[in-house]
Amino acid sequence: MNHPPGTNRTLAIVKPDAVESGDAGRIVAHLEAAGFKLKAVRMLAMTRAQAQAFYAVHRDRPFYESLVSFMTSGPCVPMVLEAPQAVSGLRRAIGATDPAEAAEGTVRRLYAQSKERNAVHGSDSDENARKEIEFFFPEFSAGNAS
Ligand code: RTP
Ligand code: MG
Repeated sequence: MNHPPGTNRTLAIVKPDAVESGDAGRIVAHLEAAGFKLKAVRMLAMTRAQAQAFYAVHRDRPFYESLVSFMTSGPCVPMVLEAPQAVSGLRRAIGATDPAEAAEGTVRRLYAQSKERNAVHGSDSDENARKEIEFFFPEFSAGNAS
């Protein structure tokens, strides 16, 4: 799928904690106000297999089992966002993993409860953005190169 020159795409997820607390709409609005164009969005309750696969990179980390339980604890809202430097821009907008370390005005500073229950996910590289977009939105699999 083509997109304007100079822009690219990344994947954000409103995690189950923020859906449960009723902040999903505010988080989408925050990201739109920060300059991201919403290209696709869905809601799903991830299965264990999906959450394990999505966070497979962390499978040897001590927090992996707990992370999988958290991510399957309720529905989440993955979305495709488009902006110039989408990946780095989203990481800046969401803030540090631990909300106690997240900058003022970031999504995690505003909405996260803890380092694990941290409201939102953002892809960490263009390559992972492509993979993660395809994971939730197979129709976006072609032409996501930046
Ligand atoms: P994400 O992948 O969700 O955007 O988060 P991130 O890059 O900021 O952090 P990452 O290191 O990739 O960790 C993935 C998610 O695992 C949970 N976590 N818990 N208890 C802990 O020490 C711990 N560390 C990480 C968080 O939900 C984190 O976002
Ligand atoms: Mg990560």
